[in-house]
Amino acid sequence: MMKNTKTVAVKASGNYDITIGKGLLSNVGEILKGIKKPCRTVIVTDSNVDPLYSDAVIESLEKAGYSADKYVFAAGEKSKNAATFVEILEFLASEKITRSDLLVALGGGVVGDITGFAASCYLRGIDFVQIPTTLLAAVDSSVGGKTAIDLKAGKNLAGAFYQPIAVICDTDTFETLPEKEVACGYAEVIKYGILFEKEFCDSLMSGKCDIDEIVEKCVIFKRDIVERDEFDNGERKLLNLGHTAAHGIEKVSGYSLTHGQAVAVGTVIATKIAENFGICKEGTYREVEKMLEEFNLPTKYDITAEELCEAALSDKKRQSSKLTLVLPEKIGKCVLYDVDVENLKDIFSKAIG
Ligand code: NAD
Ligand code: GLY
Repeated sequence: MMKNTKTVAVKASGNYDITIGKGLLSNVGEILKGIKKPCRTVIVTDSNVDPLYSDAVIESLEKAGYSADKYVFAAGEKSKNAATFVEILEFLASEKITRSDLLVALGGGVVGDITGFAASCYLRGIDFVQIPTTLLAAVDSSVGGKTAIDLKAGKNLAGAFYQPIAVICDTDTFETLPEKEVACGYAEVIKYGILFEKEFCDSLMSGKCDIDEIVEKCVIFKRDIVERDEFDNGERKLLNLGHTAAHGIEKVSGYSLTHGQAVAVGTVIATKIAENFGICKEGTYREVEKMLEEFNLPTKYDITAEELCEAALSDKKRQSSKLTLVLPEKIGKCVLYDVDVENLKDIFSKAIG
């Protein structure tokens, strides 16, 4: 029996519930039974998560009448590529997985993104479930249906909008996360606070928040945006706060800096740009830095304006001669701001100089 769980309903091109709570891995089968009749499932996971959590999920699925196979790939962003993607598809085909079967993404954002993309393509689309095991995946990547792999030219350059049929977030799984990965999750948590609610930032800084409540709050922020702009034509772009610079930083670092760490540095750069433009008041930049430092996140990275510019220009967010930046007006409110790409190098240079 599930106790003290929180449920957030999402209404998008596919409707689904996000269930948040402790010990939920042992309820995966029970939760799924309410939405899909027993079938074959393939758990896709990575080499770190597999020894920790696959058995619990398999046991729960089998208890509820599902069969479970698994596909495990080497942990890390470097695996989020075309080769792993095709290997997953080949595995599904060799196992004769059909359209009525189910993929289960068990892991962080890397697992969720690549599994979701595989689910969107295999047999032109089969159902998948997100079981996020990092804070970052719980508050961001498992919700909203963006799936992707990286190409040599940059992050997330091939992908699809494809919603899961359920998100099941067992917050107990965060207990095994290395400290650095917890911090990365907080980069996205703080992002929501800067975007939508100063009081949320204040309560994070007070250290008094319960983790289930933090996840619930963040997925509600994201759900509300996704329901209004699922396909990223307007206000969903706000969720990219810090990401234009972050994708460049991740790439230049050879992915030694994680996504969350890069988002933290990118958020500081975005706030500095906002200050330089007079969009937010002086001192906002320092406030943002302080919050990120409090959660052990980096706020600087050795990168040139040219490198930031090059990455930004190969990013999906570019539209011909304009690039949309997300800039804070104040903590709790951000705006979309179009800049001419020809001015970008100068803008970055003033922000990091
Ligand atoms: P990740 O999936 O690489 O996980 C981080 C590390 O933690 C990995 O080494 C993983 O093996 C390990 N791990 C995962 N769960 C664990 C657990 N419970 N205990 C111990 N170790 C565990 O990275 P991430 O930070 O979760 O996600 C980053 C990815 O998400 C990036 O590829 C980014 O582009 C993507 N992303 C996508 C969206 C979206 O909307 N689709 C949003 C944000 C980020
Ligand atoms: N992580 C950004 C988005 O989902 O739109």
